[in-house]
Amino acid sequence: MEKQRMSRESFIQLRDFIYEKCGIYLQENKTYFLEDRLQRRLEAINLSGYDEYIYFVRYDPKGADELRELFNSVTTNETSFFRDSGQLEAFRTGILPGVLEKKRGPDRVDRTIRVWSAGCSTGEEPYTLAMIMAEAGLPLNGWKVDILASDISEQVLGSAKRAVYGQYALRNTGENHLKRYFVNGGGGYGVRPEIRDMVRFANINLSDSAQMKFIRGMDVIFCRNVLIYFDDNAKRKVVGHFYDSLAEGGFLVVGFSESLFNLTRAFRPVDVNRCVIYQKVQANTVGGGVCVKMSL
Ligand SMILES: C[S@@+](CC[C@H](N)C(=O)[O-])C[C@H]1O[C@@H](n2cnc3c(N)ncnc32)[C@H](O)[C@@H]1O
Repeated sequence: MEKQRMSRESFIQLRDFIYEKCGIYLQENKTYFLEDRLQRRLEAINLSGYDEYIYFVRYDPKGADELRELFNSVTTNETSFFRDSGQLEAFRTGILPGVLEKKRGPDRVDRTIRVWSAGCSTGEEPYTLAMIMAEAGLPLNGWKVDILASDISEQVLGSAKRAVYGQYALRNTGENHLKRYFVNGGGGYGVRPEIRDMVRFANINLSDSAQMKFIRGMDVIFCRNVLIYFDDNAKRKVVGHFYDSLAEGGFLVVGFSESLFNLTRAFRPVDVNRCVIYQKVQANTVGGGVCVKMSL
């Protein structure tokens, strides 16, 4: 099929529709990006242009299925095991011991550590977190681990559940981890079952308030390299959802180059091992944004 050009009007309609549905905001110069990503969809459902496509995804009875394909097409899924090791070190040496300590007291009956990888792409991030927790001796000694891994793209969730990876995904993985947590089969490196069993996957749209309200009591949320695709309003909405999903004093880890600066005062920046991590502030003490060192 000949490549279809997208008019400015179609681009704006599609851009606004994508933003409304999932918070991803495409800049003015992203027409070629959308053309590239959606040409395959026009061919797959046999449509001759983008106006028809917009109508189809909005109003056709099969539009809901196509919306899933649209999400698959417009998301950027770059990731790797052990990405941004400084933040993972902060999790291992600061956040995780802090959460364990908080839950360890004699009057505490909750012995489940709840971690959420929100926007987990093909699974490298949640499996990395599971490996770090396994190294810390979890889920032994009466503690349970619940790692929720979610994404809006069904396609990446499929790969995540298969849990078989090539060299590129493992470019930041040391020999020790490779030996300990992977099985090198014919088709690539498979994540060992004891790590896979620590992670459950779900399709969750972070912009969808109805879906988000079911997630509560998280100790730590990793949402790295996801909010960069949103504008400030959409970020605020998602960060507000995270606030409600976190337990009291819970932590939010955003990407290394991302920040909540000027977005919210409901989280305070905390310096953990020279990484800025955000901690949920109790509702009645929401105040300034001074970065404090974490005291454990
Ligand atoms: C660049 S990847 C980041 C993966 C991983 N967190 C990391 O840092 O390596 C961004 C992921 O966010 C997902 N995403 C984008 N918008 C989303 C939304 N509204 N709800 C849920 N996931 C979303 C994309 O599908 C993609 O897999």
